[in-house]
Amino acid sequence: MKEGVFLCRNSEELAREGADRFARLAAQASKMRGCFRMALAGGRTPREMYRILSTEPFAGKVSWKQVEVFWGDERWVPKDHPDSNYRMAYEALLSRVTIPPGNVHPMPTTGDPENAALAYEREIRRSFDNPDLSGEPRFDLILLGLGEDGHTASIFPNSPALHEKQRLVAAPYVTHLGSYRITLTLPVLCAAEYVMFLVSGKGKGKALAATLNRKCNEAQTFEQTPAQLVQPVHGTLTWLVDREAWAAAR
Ligand code: 6PG
Repeated sequence: MKEGVFLCRNSEELAREGADRFARLAAQASKMRGCFRMALAGGRTPREMYRILSTEPFAGKVSWKQVEVFWGDERWVPKDHPDSNYRMAYEALLSRVTIPPGNVHPMPTTGDPENAALAYEREIRRSFDNPDLSGEPRFDLILLGLGEDGHTASIFPNSPALHEKQRLVAAPYVTHLGSYRITLTLPVLCAAEYVMFLVSGKGKGKALAATLNRKCNEAQTFEQTPAQLVQPVHGTLTWLVDREAWAAAR
């Protein structure tokens, strides 16, 4: 695993840096393999990056017809709900660029959560031409956020999803939220070619310190900071961090 932290002056610079790296990775993947398969992060931090990515000079660098869009996680709400990660990405990016509709893969959030997770796993495998359910698909890019409690995607501290080693997608019930989530699992996150965390704001300081230090005192366990378990086996791990979050992590 190659890892690096890129310090950004503020959230605006973080968004631009994220858009620039996305565009370069997309251009490289399209050129080498004719496609760019990526998973978007949810929450608030990525919104500005997605908006900037839909503008020049970044949008023109991406061959959008060769992009396949997945999500790293989703809230258990309809796609048009204000909390939906799909809706956020659609408004900020997908409605402003031309990706073939069949290449946009929202996570299912209706019916039985377990069946939704199985259905999404099948959809991922179909996209990777890997129907025989063997091995982890290697996304070209997975974008992730960091929760103040150290969660990432929808893998929360002490969650059963932390121990999932076989399935690509899990649908844990998140007790403190009182709702289900659907999320890519750690084996998929760790199989990616390139993982990019976007971390902004002083509220993320404690989680960032625990994650980057990857040290646990006797009272802590790795399960209390899921983000530190995202360690790409062969890929690159990049942290885009603004000064506020960095200062709060000292
Ligand atoms: C979600 C996310 C989650 C998010 C972090 C950071 O669905 O909420 O995917 O993992 O990335 O909670 O969220 P913010 O960017 O809003 O701080």
